[in-house]
Amino acid sequence: LGELKKKLPLNKQKILVTAGPTYEAIDPVRFIGNHSSGKMGFAIADQFAKMGADVVLISGPSSQRSHQSVNRVDVTSAAEMLEACQQYFPDAKACVMSAAVADYTPVTVASQKIKKQDAGLNIGLKKTTDILKTLGGIKRSDQILVGFALETNDEEQNAVGKLKSKNLDFIVLNSLNDKGAGFKTDTNKITIIDKELHKTTYDLKGKDEVAIDICNKVAELINA
Ligand code: CTP
Ligand code: CA
Repeated sequence: LGELKKKLPLNKQKILVTAGPTYEAIDPVRFIGNHSSGKMGFAIADQFAKMGADVVLISGPSSQRSHQSVNRVDVTSAAEMLEACQQYFPDAKACVMSAAVADYTPVTVASQKIKKQDAGLNIGLKKTTDILKTLGGIKRSDQILVGFALETNDEEQNAVGKLKSKNLDFIVLNSLNDKGAGFKTDTNKITIIDKELHKTTYDLKGKDEVAIDICNKVAELINA
């Protein structure tokens, strides 16, 4: 097995993957979340492990199960995910940020359950820290950083904007206009745009196969 592992394309490379949604607490029983299942990120973590990498998977709340050799770190909120990413990123050769991080979090978290009121309820929200952009700011030239872009309109223009502003090596564009793509499906259709703005469009396929395409692209850059 030792001999076999040596031949794997990502032998012992440290790779960080994030997956799933984040939950932002409103009070002890309620939160703001999103529809991310974690399927795409878990498939990516699994695939990296199969390629011989030493994988840390930082996951928001998800019912997915990870490969036994994946080191899983469970977090709940965007703030917790940021802290975990800052801890693991410096040691990583590559990071793929596939988590659906909340863009906003409640300004205050009520310590007791908020009682219902006839007048309705307004919840004040503040922006979360952009984790990917933070990592892009501390990235060394020997590290590879990959992000996702989930878009409904002006897809390529928006994805290229994120690629540049977050200092990424490539971005995986998911369009919600593509049939069979999105949060709850077992399939996905992606376009990869790299920092030279080369664009590769892939067919609709199972998330496990999409993960192979993404991980191969990372391996190509690491082994270049
Ligand atoms: N992301 C992040 N931290 C946040 C928000 C997003 O790390 N607080 C990451 C996501 O994991 C993804 C990438 O940024 O890899 C793009 O996320 P997306 O929601 O498509 O873009 P945003 O920059 O949040 O912009 P918007 O939601 O307004 O399109
Ligand atoms: Ca967002």
